[in-house]
Amino acid sequence: MNKIFKWIGIVLGSLSGLLLALALVFLILGNMRLNKTYVFPTDSVIVPTDDASIARGKHIAETTCAQCHGADLGGVGGWFKMEGVGEVDASNLTTGLGGVGSVYTSDAEYVRAIRHGIDAEGKPIFMPAVLVYQRVSDEDLGAVIAYLKVAPPVDRVTEGSFEMMGKIMLGAGLFGKLPVEEASHATTVSAPEAGVTVEYGEYLAVLGDCASCHGADYAGGAYPDPSVTLPVPNITPAGNIGAWTEEEFIAAMREGITPEGKPLAPAFMPFEAIGKMTDDELAALYLFLQSLPAQ
Ligand code: HEC
Ligand code: HEC
Repeated sequence: MNKIFKWIGIVLGSLSGLLLALALVFLILGNMRLNKTYVFPTDSVIVPTDDASIARGKHIAETTCAQCHGADLGGVGGWFKMEGVGEVDASNLTTGLGGVGSVYTSDAEYVRAIRHGIDAEGKPIFMPAVLVYQRVSDEDLGAVIAYLKVAPPVDRVTEGSFEMMGKIMLGAGLFGKLPVEEASHATTVSAPEAGVTVEYGEYLAVLGDCASCHGADYAGGAYPDPSVTLPVPNITPAGNIGAWTEEEFIAAMREGITPEGKPLAPAFMPFEAIGKMTDDELAALYLFLQSLPAQ
């Protein structure tokens, strides 16, 4: 009997030793991925200083970046938060105390963060939206940066870090790829000509990041954050939207109430930011959504 217990003890002991060793390997791997320094060729983004470009940048920032970085772009605490794993704030994008504008020393640093997913030191950032904004044209990205540099400064310190368990999970591949590991790192990006066209509507759907919640095929499904049970509706013509007129779509995005009389939850469907798009932009978005295969 005693012998059996001894053997069980040895087996269990070596198993937990193995698990510990494995966790250590994943921890080292996770740390290596988080601390890797990246260098990319210089982008062809030019940051303008004229009023029209700054106004364009403000418009893009209000309709897109504000979805995560807050209406004042001063950052949002606990944007990603998982007990025991880590917490990441959406950074303060202004030039105020704690803002990236008070740390960055060149325009290229903004481009590297937004298009390539790295911070001023070349280390990965945890901003999934990089995979969206890598498709923003040189001109639009330049305009956004121009605006961030002159936007009303907000004093708010934001930070982010993974705890040991988060690093182990990262090393084990449980979070998939970091944005910098997945981005295409193109250095020149162009956009279709602005207008009420399906093509420009698709570009706006990319900027508005509709697919991250409504799905790559826009057919809806579960909310990306599993703790949210609110279903994400189908926005191809097979959904309610198939029966809406352009005016009804624009009104729904501006007022947050669908033609069926359903109020949209602003915490989960960012219509307040999307509703700031111009009539022409919303019309293009509508055209694009109506052009999708009904599914
Ligand atoms: C889906 C949410 C989301 C959207 C949309 C978004 N961001 Fe972010 N962004 C984040 C998060 C989260 C971080 C913090 C990442 C970290 O600390 O690792 C961040 C960090 C940043 C940083 C700081 C990088 C650094 O040096 O630490 C910049 C600059 C930035 N975002 C710019 C933008 C701009 C400009 C837009 C709009 C074009 C935008 N972001 C849209 C979530 C978002
Ligand atoms: C952060 C997640 C998220 C993003 C980003 C997002 N949506 Fe939504 N959307 C939702 C959710 C959740 C609902 C359902 C809201 C409710 O029931 O209160 C919704 C509802 C809608 C509806 C109403 C559909 C219906 O049948 O009632 C439309 C239209 C819509 N979204 C369009 C868009 C467009 C266009 C974009 C991009 C420009 C977009 N959404 C971006 C999550 C999102």
